[in-house]
Amino acid sequence: PTSLNLAVIPGDGIGPEVIAEALKVLRAAVDSDVDVAATEYPFGAGHFLETGRILDDADLDALKQHDAILLGAVGGDPRDPRLKGGIIERGLLLKLRFALDHYVNLRPTMLFPSVESPLANPGHVDFVVVREGTEGPYVGNGGAIRVGTPAEVANEISVNTAFGVERLVRFGFETASSRPAKKLTLVHKTNVLVFAGSLWQRTVDRVALEYPDVAVDYLHIDAVTIFLVTNPGRFDTIVTDNLFGDIITDLAAAISGGIGLAASGNINPDGTFPSMFEPVHGSAPDIAGQQKADPTAAILSVALLLEHIGQTDASARVSAAVSADLAARGSTPRSTAQIGDAIAASLTKN
Ligand code: NAD
Ligand code: IPM
Ligand code: MN
Repeated sequence: PTSLNLAVIPGDGIGPEVIAEALKVLRAAVDSDVDVAATEYPFGAGHFLETGRILDDADLDALKQHDAILLGAVGGDPRDPRLKGGIIERGLLLKLRFALDHYVNLRPTMLFPSVESPLANPGHVDFVVVREGTEGPYVGNGGAIRVGTPAEVANEISVNTAFGVERLVRFGFETASSRPAKKLTLVHKTNVLVFAGSLWQRTVDRVALEYPDVAVDYLHIDAVTIFLVTNPGRFDTIVTDNLFGDIITDLAAAISGGIGLAASGNINPDGTFPSMFEPVHGSAPDIAGQQKADPTAAILSVALLLEHIGQTDASARVSAAVSADLAARGSTPRSTAQIGDAIAASLTKN
């Protein structure tokens, strides 16, 4: 018998609602000889407002003991002055990604056959965004002077290291070469962000020599937003920096049936630290507590988690169950729990 020692961070807003369903499905999907232990951690905006604590070193040490982390969403009421400056997003979510060296933020996008896209002619949408997760403008390397005066200067520096770019690009090529289409698109803004752009382009050119079977091209980030809407079928593996990857994966979610279906993995490919799986969406304060959230993104994140830890069959079962559930969806809206129950039940039957 094997065991799965999971850390679960339900978080805020719809986070706990979607995570409850994701756990139901996970338990229903794993082989009967797998012993699942799920330890819940209270981190999030709510926890911070109650205790003044976000995530300290002892918390990180505890999380590092787990095989993987499942996270719902974090972020509180945006109007609350105590939460301003993204204190939770940076102090919790980004801190986890940095401290656990989640340098690959993996965001697969696919239009399930039965799901309607807002695009009239979406074509075959099946691509994966390999987003850098530990560098770029996310590192907090910035500052401001003369704040609040007409002479204010605010800088936000994008950090790109040869080490960080190369390991991400290598993962991108490994991903592309394992996929049928074997096509890698570097996405950047090399015509304006010339120093970082040059590093990314040279790194891709160099690593490409080791992958002669992978077709490589390049697009500027602005043009990508055109093609994601007019011809998303042209994409297979997109390799890009942290901020561009953030933006295009919300767009990718929108064209493939909505943010309620988009899953992601924050991966530490070396296995030094646990990887973390979460829906692409946030805490959705507008629908929180109403059982209106679609738990599918969290459930598909469970599929990514299971695949990552080597539970390949269970992962495939979850994806198939989601696919079948999407195909069976009618026009009657279901609650968060109804969707989770239906998917979990279809797994238990087999
Ligand atoms: P959001 O993703 O929370 O919501 C955007 C829109 O999508 C809203 O209308 C929401 O109702 C809808 N939506 C989101 N998830 C849905 C689901 N599962 N089913 C149906 N509809 C869904 O983005 P936002 O409003 O920009 O951010 C809200 C908060 O979440 C902010 O505090 C933000 O910083 C945070 N956030 C956290 C994460 C994370 O924890 N990984 C990711 C993104 C945003
Ligand atoms: C995401 C989110 C985060 C990001 C925020 C909440 C820090 O938007 O996971 O896509 O920008 O990476
Ligand atoms: Mn985002």
